[in-house]
Amino acid sequence: MRADDGQCVSIGSEPHYEEYSMQQNANDNATAPLGLTESQWEAICALRPADEAISPTAEGQRPASIYFSEERYKAEIEQLFKKVPLVAAPSCYLKPGESLAQDGYGIPMLLTRDKNGVVRAFVNACRHRGSKIVEGNEPVASARLSCPYHAWTYATDGRLIGIPRPETFPSAKKCELGLVTLECYEAGGMIWVGMDPKEKPGLLEGSDQLHADLEAFGLHTMHMYGRRTYDLKANWKFVMEPFLEAYHIQRLHADSIADMFLDVPSVYGFLGHHQRQTSGKANFSPDLLKGNIDNLHKYITHAYLCFPNTVVITSPYYMSIMILMPRGANRTVVDYFMLTKSEPDSDKAKELFARSFELIHEVFGGEDFRAAELQTAALGNGNSGVETLYFGGLEEMITPFHESIESFLDKPES
Ligand code: FES
Ligand SMILES: [Fe+2]
Repeated sequence: MRADDGQCVSIGSEPHYEEYSMQQNANDNATAPLGLTESQWEAICALRPADEAISPTAEGQRPASIYFSEERYKAEIEQLFKKVPLVAAPSCYLKPGESLAQDGYGIPMLLTRDKNGVVRAFVNACRHRGSKIVEGNEPVASARLSCPYHAWTYATDGRLIGIPRPETFPSAKKCELGLVTLECYEAGGMIWVGMDPKEKPGLLEGSDQLHADLEAFGLHTMHMYGRRTYDLKANWKFVMEPFLEAYHIQRLHADSIADMFLDVPSVYGFLGHHQRQTSGKANFSPDLLKGNIDNLHKYITHAYLCFPNTVVITSPYYMSIMILMPRGANRTVVDYFMLTKSEPDSDKAKELFARSFELIHEVFGGEDFRAAELQTAALGNGNSGVETLYFGGLEEMITPFHESIESFLDKPES
């Protein structure tokens, strides 16, 4: 606390990022039907019939140590996660006038949305003696934020607005004791935050197209149906990888969703470090694209890697968002969110959504996440003797994922 009259800058007054309108509809290109971006439509049109599929042969490999080395984990946090914008929550999870504590990244984040819809992010720590201010992990209505310890009170824009018994702090200048800010912007239906208060991470190349794609799906206007948090004994890259390849679907998911998909390559696209997979389901045929499709998501699945750690997957009646938050070389917290177009408005819709929510838990939780835990259980102590892991042609997008990570690291091989 300084006694002199320092320059006071109102928190949130100088956004580092471009402003994005929540109303903006990225898809104003008339040639792409069904509310898609032109880029999404081009990828869909590139899908071939299953019997014309060519088996891809691009192989890759990486040292097993990148999944359990403590040194590598620390480098990923310091040189990657602290340097890029990260998804903290889907936009629709935080309504005007609400605040939300997000602890998944291992630092206490606090998100607020003011009455005008503007989202901000702070470190969730009081400037008096450091208590967490907003507790729990669900959105709470809060016109102001009052610390539970001695009731120092902050506005949702982070300004300190109240100190009980202020005469006992004669040198305190409220304008210097606002909440510590984190870089924050909203785009593509998600709230992106920089996790290090000392950094101001800028938009990654390709993010504009990523945001446009996700907004074309209406992600920014959807309804938050449900959330589940998983605390996994697994390296975050092991958790990510099944969402970058379809090779495992007929095997790992043999008893659940395998029938809905084919063992063929998808159409892959790079949006900078972000990735887009466009996959025809078992019922897809290119002829379908000549007619009117009632619900594209019944025939085509889109999976996005929002680099580095968030996955968005489309389904006929809902969208899945998964934020993978590394907490150690062998630990990842996953926040899963299921978004629907609107609240269920009939018993049929209620049953459908509830069944989907459970199916996701069984498939992602019980199968994909389990595989990541099995890998970590086998390799995580570093003594397995397995030194190299291999990726085949149907896993070809895993290698560019690693290349993207490595491009941020001083010593990528460690
Ligand atoms: S620690 Fe927050 S008011 Fe004292
Ligand atoms: Fe899977």
